[in-house]
Amino acid sequence: MAEPLVKVENLKKHFPVNGGIFGKKIGEVKAVDGVSFFINKGETLGLVGESGCGKSTTGRMLLRLLEPSEGSIYFEGRDITKLSKGELRKIRREMQMVFQDPFASLNPRHTVEKILEEPLIVHGMKSSAERKKRVRELLEIVGLNSYHAKRYPHQFSGGQRQRIGIARALAVNPKLIIADEPVSALDVSIQSQVLNLLQDLQEEFDLTYLFIAHDLGVVRHISDRVGVMYLGRIVELSDSEPLYENPKHPYTKALLSAVPIPDVEHQSERVILQGDVPSPSNPPKGCPFHTRCPQAMEECANKQPLFKEVEKGHYVACHLYK
Ligand SMILES: Nc1ncnc2c1ncn2[C@@H]1O[C@H](COP(=O)(O)OP(=O)(O)O)[C@@H](O)[C@H]1O
Ligand SMILES: [Mg+2]
Repeated sequence: MAEPLVKVENLKKHFPVNGGIFGKKIGEVKAVDGVSFFINKGETLGLVGESGCGKSTTGRMLLRLLEPSEGSIYFEGRDITKLSKGELRKIRREMQMVFQDPFASLNPRHTVEKILEEPLIVHGMKSSAERKKRVRELLEIVGLNSYHAKRYPHQFSGGQRQRIGIARALAVNPKLIIADEPVSALDVSIQSQVLNLLQDLQEEFDLTYLFIAHDLGVVRHISDRVGVMYLGRIVELSDSEPLYENPKHPYTKALLSAVPIPDVEHQSERVILQGDVPSPSNPPKGCPFHTRCPQAMEECANKQPLFKEVEKGHYVACHLYK
């Protein structure tokens, strides 16, 4: 099989917590605590988990917007955690991000044209006429009209603004797009339009996606494989279908039973998640999920489960699977 576009090994991000009058380090937030995965060319990996599990931190490290504390990130076989500034700039063009809140990520004082020209300038498209042409092309690619170029972000609906965010990500022909909850802020009726657009663009431009969401329902149709994150770790990862049809980790089961399924016969026994995600500055010992797990056993409080392959391509970190 061909080499994956992205491969991440034992990636960690521990944020220092400073305190006291001298601002000394008094602890750390283990936002991401050892995740490993790969993304093949042209596929979509969904990354799911409740808020605070470390999904955005993982995505931002992939783009090197955040410095990893530990671990490696390979892009087309090269470890990008070791690149110089100049090499990093080149590779940045290959990876772009689409954010959850397009309003916050688009400068309100700039026209759409200016917003979309910016990445083109950064990456060296010198002629203004060429850039203007590219802007019109980008707007059409994402289903907007080229006359929208002269408007400001507030003159668009939420869905249209997200289309602008997508156009901006596409401007420099990236290979990888990290979409961090790109539809979470949109009305449900608009969500599927934006998801469909992302899927069409993936085909047309041979894009690879890391698609972050807090809800398993959203990523179901768009993902080839799905990873479920809890407290800075991936607790289950597999092809989409087996993950939805036969989830193994009690956390995945709980997330799934929160997704409304029209066909009632298919609904597994409901597992209601109690309480909130514990603090990543003081994660539980043993299995990080044991404090909320309906199936917790004695060893779960003491021993951290390994992340192992229990069926072909289906990985889970849980003591229920020996
Ligand atoms: N710059 C930062 N400094 C300290 N803690 C942070 C920082 N960024 C994120 N965190 C913490 O890291 C954890 C994971 O955050 P995040 O990656 O945003 O999770 P998610 O995207 O899954 O909601 C959270 O507890 C968050 O408060
Ligand atoms: Mg996030």
